[in-house]
Amino acid sequence: MNALGLPIELDRTASTGLRQQIVEQVRGAVERGVLLPDDPLPSTRALAEALAVSRTTALEAYLELEGDGWVYGVHGAGTFVAHRPAAAPAPTPVVLEPDDEPELDLRAGTMDPGLVPDAWRAAWRAVSPRSFAPDPCGDPALRSGLAAYLSSARGLPCRPEEIVVCAGASEAVTVLGLALGWAGRAVAFEDPGYADMRDLVVRLGARHVPLPVDAAAPVALALEHLTARGETPAAVYLTPSHQFPLGHRLEEDDRRAVLAWARRSGSVVVEDDYDGEFRFGVPPLPSLAGLDPDAPVVYLGTLSKVLDPSLRLAYLRVPPALLPEVVHVRGLVGATVSGQVQEVVAGWLASGALSRHIARVRRVYADRRAALLRALEEVPGVVGVRGIEAGLHVVADLAPGIDAAAVVAQARERGVAVTSLDDFRSSPPGPPALLLHHGGLDPQSLREAVRRLAGCAAMGVRTSPPA
Ligand SMILES: Cc1ncc(COP(=O)(O)O)c(C=O)c1O
Repeated sequence: MNALGLPIELDRTASTGLRQQIVEQVRGAVERGVLLPDDPLPSTRALAEALAVSRTTALEAYLELEGDGWVYGVHGAGTFVAHRPAAAPAPTPVVLEPDDEPELDLRAGTMDPGLVPDAWRAAWRAVSPRSFAPDPCGDPALRSGLAAYLSSARGLPCRPEEIVVCAGASEAVTVLGLALGWAGRAVAFEDPGYADMRDLVVRLGARHVPLPVDAAAPVALALEHLTARGETPAAVYLTPSHQFPLGHRLEEDDRRAVLAWARRSGSVVVEDDYDGEFRFGVPPLPSLAGLDPDAPVVYLGTLSKVLDPSLRLAYLRVPPALLPEVVHVRGLVGATVSGQVQEVVAGWLASGALSRHIARVRRVYADRRAALLRALEEVPGVVGVRGIEAGLHVVADLAPGIDAAAVVAQARERGVAVTSLDDFRSSPPGPPALLLHHGGLDPQSLREAVRRLAGCAAMGVRTSPPA
């Protein structure tokens, strides 16, 4: 007890601040029944003097206790212990630990924050609090910046009103699926493809139709086959700039044929251009939507690969005919990307900083890709590498008979996270192959990851005789 008769003893060597110690000790005294409802507490001035803390510290402690319902203030009379309903016993607090992070992560989507320049951090100092939530479709400045960016960088001329800002690609597709009424209708997904997105769309009530893809077969032909079978889908989800996961690009003839099919069939194409900014040694191909901005193609872009996956900032460019429904649903859901994130990204677009950053990291990724490809040449179990012209990952084909799932498991034990191509198939397992994403690791770490992969027992063991 101190001079005030309150059971508060401050420890000035503790890492917990003085305000927090006062709060915790008053709370403890109430919980133990040392302080009873309506007992008066000393004035903040008396408390501050008795404990040798500033008046502000005492005041802030009382304000926090009052805000949490432990005490109440009566104007002119002072502060008193509150009546608290009998509480259920508090559960033992559990601190959530982050998932066990692999030392070397080669899974799709892992990025390297070390590549983001200091100017990005500096840009955050300028943001301020706001009085309103952002427009559900996005801040005007961001929509204008994204429209200009699509026009110059992705060959897709469009107006700011056609841009709809979303919290990541999956939210964008959720909004789209609700707006275009996919529930109960068929939606075609590349197979192999973006399996999580496929599963999400099925959860939205759509019927999944697999669209077999491989680099050699035109996508338009596969779509014509669906139509010939009477299975024209309401929508088809494509990754034309860098097929996910196989890694090839949709050739221009095929692109035009896909557009012609979409116009004829009444189906909507969702063009997921998740990493189309990155290509290596090949001329740029404009986006599919850019070939005909009035075609029924909804372009889906994201900042996850070009800047930072934790921004959760993606965007749709919706052709005018589909826009009213999408804007309506976006309005019902409301804004989901913070105004501050939008403000900083808009500033980066307007100043050209984002384009400069992309140009710089494109060269960095080219070096990383080259290092990965060179390292893979030394691995006997790897018989080929696909999808090397664009994007941030490649597919490494393994010798027949190697069990890719066993390699994934053993690699994980050695601190390396990789994915088997089978994880992206809706069909039965195919020839063994791994997806290797090089966006998150520098050349030295990539070499080390490949060295550990090559050392996995399963890389040499054939579970069945080679064909
Ligand atoms: C095929 C594909 N599309 C889109 C995305 C981007 O998703 P998000 O915007 O939710 O980060 C990813 C991320 O890894 C992806 O692999």
